[in-house]
Amino acid sequence: MITHGRDIKVFAGNSNPRLAREICSLIGIKLGDAEVGTFSDGEIYASFYETVRGSDVFVLQSTCQPGNKNLMELLIMIDALKRASASRVTAVIPYFGYARQDRKAKARDPITAKLVANMITKAGADRVLTMDLHASQIQGFFDIPVDNLAGNPIFVDYYSKKFGEDCENMMIVSPDVGSVSRARIFSQKLHTNLAIVDKRRPRANESEVMNVIGNIKGYDCILVDDLIDTGGSLCNAANALVKEGARRIFACASHGVLSGPALEKLNNSPVEELALLDTIPPVDSSRCGKLKYLPVAPMFSEAIERTYQEISMSKLSM
Ligand code: R5P
Repeated sequence: MITHGRDIKVFAGNSNPRLAREICSLIGIKLGDAEVGTFSDGEIYASFYETVRGSDVFVLQSTCQPGNKNLMELLIMIDALKRASASRVTAVIPYFGYARQDRKAKARDPITAKLVANMITKAGADRVLTMDLHASQIQGFFDIPVDNLAGNPIFVDYYSKKFGEDCENMMIVSPDVGSVSRARIFSQKLHTNLAIVDKRRPRANESEVMNVIGNIKGYDCILVDDLIDTGGSLCNAANALVKEGARRIFACASHGVLSGPALEKLNNSPVEELALLDTIPPVDSSRCGKLKYLPVAPMFSEAIERTYQEISMSKLSM
């Protein structure tokens, strides 16, 4: 067995400490003793209260809201760990933000996914471990290894148990053309049909449904997306499905960003339940009774152990 450090150490920024603790308890270690805070002027500091010299270190931080602060915390932690002679540093980013600007959609657009990849690499990360990147080609924006875990087995398991044999009479629906390949994997695993919503984005944070491709009349539908942000794509798609004669609407997405009007929209929508992974800290159930969170700690703890032990990760990325 080749290891890249004497021992495994896991540290966490402030984005999702509960998930970090759950992962550590599954691995059977204590969460590393560190503190990430802000000076009076708002600048971020990181203090590590135990040695990391020669250790295989994993830093857990989702770059969810407040995204800029969480990203900066991650970069500063990586910098400190490299300077403290950690043998290897893996940035564990359950939700990788800034990923949606992954190409120049119009003239003079930035490509923030590449910029963030450069920043993480430059800070000193040796590897990245993440889940359901908005576009899997973002892996290629890094020149270091990136393991992109697939959340779909968690959902497939959940829906197989929830609907049993009825799954076969359901319809998986992609809320836009960009999510078709993700939705197809679901439909293949659940043995369902696939329909597609043709979505248009006239401007940022707004979406319009042009068409529903496929006959969904009388079907129970599951909308499958990588993330729900303002909830516009999801709720517009759900309304369009109801108009076309769908029976019941369920939805799932890996990352519950849930910004701005998302919860209000969801509460007022025909979506019965939105299943999310807890890559981003869960919203209190009193604010929306339609949310169901599924845990990712078992998958991340296994991935961290496999990384440490140099064991193949392919079974976790399909
Ligand atoms: C789009 O490409 C993504 O996969 C999501 O559908 C989208 O970003 C969700 O955003 P919102 O909830 O604001 O419509």
